[in-house]
Amino acid sequence: MRKKYFDFIIHGGDYNPDQWIRTKEIWDEDIRLMKLAGINSATVGIFSWGILEPEEGVFCFDWLDEIMEKFRKNGIAAILATPSGARPAWMALKYPEVLRVNENGIHNEYGDRHNHCLTSPVYREKVRTINRALAERYANHPALKMWHVSNEYSGECHCELCQTAFREWLKKEYNNDLNLLNDKWWTGFWSHQITDWSQISSPKDRGENHFSALKLAWRRFVTDSHISFFENEISPLRQITPDIPFTTNLMGLYGGIDYQKLASHLDIVSWDNYPDWCTGDNLYTAAQTAFVHDAFRSMKQGQPFFMMESTPSVVNQRPVNKLPPPGMQTLTALQAVSHGADSVQYFQWRSSRAGHEKYHGAVVDHRGHENTRVFREIARTGNLLSGLSQVTGTLCNSKVAIIYDWENARATEYFSGFNNKRRDYAGECVRWYMPFYKRGISVDVIAMDADYSKYDIVIAPFLYMLKPGTEERISTYVKNGGMFLSTYLLGMADRDDRCFTGGFPAGELKTVFGIEHEETDVLPEDAPGKANFNGVTYPVEHVCDIIRSTGAAVRGTYITDFYSGTPAVTENSYGKGSAVYVAFRSSDVLADDVCAYIINKTGVMPDTDIEYSGIEVRRRGDFIFCLNFTQENKTVKLKSSYTDIISGKTLSGDINIEKCGFLILKG
Ligand code: GLA
Ligand code: ZN
Repeated sequence: MRKKYFDFIIHGGDYNPDQWIRTKEIWDEDIRLMKLAGINSATVGIFSWGILEPEEGVFCFDWLDEIMEKFRKNGIAAILATPSGARPAWMALKYPEVLRVNENGIHNEYGDRHNHCLTSPVYREKVRTINRALAERYANHPALKMWHVSNEYSGECHCELCQTAFREWLKKEYNNDLNLLNDKWWTGFWSHQITDWSQISSPKDRGENHFSALKLAWRRFVTDSHISFFENEISPLRQITPDIPFTTNLMGLYGGIDYQKLASHLDIVSWDNYPDWCTGDNLYTAAQTAFVHDAFRSMKQGQPFFMMESTPSVVNQRPVNKLPPPGMQTLTALQAVSHGADSVQYFQWRSSRAGHEKYHGAVVDHRGHENTRVFREIARTGNLLSGLSQVTGTLCNSKVAIIYDWENARATEYFSGFNNKRRDYAGECVRWYMPFYKRGISVDVIAMDADYSKYDIVIAPFLYMLKPGTEERISTYVKNGGMFLSTYLLGMADRDDRCFTGGFPAGELKTVFGIEHEETDVLPEDAPGKANFNGVTYPVEHVCDIIRSTGAAVRGTYITDFYSGTPAVTENSYGKGSAVYVAFRSSDVLADDVCAYIINKTGVMPDTDIEYSGIEVRRRGDFIFCLNFTQENKTVKLKSSYTDIISGKTLSGDINIEKCGFLILKG
């Protein structure tokens, strides 16, 4: 795996010159403006299949040749897209199988984007053909620096081709053994015995939608369908342009595809980042965004990621599309870089004149010139990024990991029982991320089957499902000296959502944690309970396990309800390490206090000596980023001397950072 592909931070975004084919003079103006904005790269052709192949087998590359040539002459790195995200009308009409069938069995008509069957041999062949043609045409073009494969893979198809593929996939998954499948899926429940593979079809409301094992299997199949669709897409690229890296842009914590699995197929992991600034607490939005950056960085350990999209100003798809205040765009960019992004890219370079996204923010808006607030801010960002090239390829050395696992995320949604509302697995993970975020301690966000050995602390909120091997992985980690913290409903079910027998948490984990789970209570929202930890009282919100200590030290107990006096927080020594169990959901305050306790115990240090004051502080390489996402002026206390890379001045003591402002320090 290469650590980095570029020696500078890629600054660019989606560029659609083909929409302006009738007024081509605008293309030169685009190049002039790109230079002015410090743009060094552009992503072209994302949804261009209609113009690239106007008739079956007839390719039209003239416009793209011209654009690529302009990029070459002007030192702009071309990120060339494969166009499979949307298809030409002729194809859909001639080969209806390329279109999706929805879960109600309705065959979609031509239209929209991301509306293709993942299995269709015709579509896969058409994709290979256009991708081969693109790769052959531009393989030796000096502007070509990277591939952007398709766009935001998502959704699923329920057509007969996909149903057959699903059954074939199941045969492989369950060793061609229906008996095994019936056992793992516990099909004796509600007369679900399966006597022939053909009896299985995708989950849907008008059929089977209360069958978590089937739903989990379908999700895995959909992930694998995307992976095989992707591998099909890139087969000509791998062959013809083996030195050009490729990515596909992912969508935050989108649950339809297991990104932690897909990531291993990508050269570069990238995602599209659209924080909803100024509609709630910006500090929380910043922490949530930081969490997702860390998740993408952690997917390919040892390698930075790309922020493939972000908005230069506003989005158009939310019920309320609030304009982020001046400065927020630069902060969004710097935050990505500080967490390990080697790119800052936008959707989109220029506003389209019409179409669904014409009111989405763009670097160049409908006025078409550079004298705009947004353009000036992008140019400022470009200028800053050009001074940060040194960070490319560098990473954060995290001593703490939080497990956010894509498969567990689905499992926690699909089962019925306990708290059927507000499961909010992601929210719980962010809650336990926050104490580290605030202290400037770098965190990796990993899957449950990642390597824990390099971390001093591993936190697993609501780790309900255990993949094979996870129990041993946790045991070994703690035995070897690790600090493992878990919260309620740990280790209840296997990957087919079949409960573990013999008590929870599963198997050896009972010994690792020194506890046994007995029951789980769920409290109405307006009637929280209470528990204490190290002598302080905290609310018990929503869900709590009633547990018994079989050896763990009790650090806190419930003080309400019939289980008052029973353990609520425990800590157990196992081998050389410790396992902490927080049996209930509570406020951020409890998470903060428990984390302070384990941070103190393990001696994990923040990445800088700058204390939290409502400003995000991150170190990447030699740079320290202090980012003020709030709408108030704030002060950072610099205990040592640093160089402000913008003014070149030496700074120490109390430094004011204005709202939406930042400091980039060296030292
Ligand atoms: C996504 C898509 C883009 C565009 C933006 C708008 O990220 O990839 O094509 O639709 O959203 O925010
Ligand atoms: Zn299909």
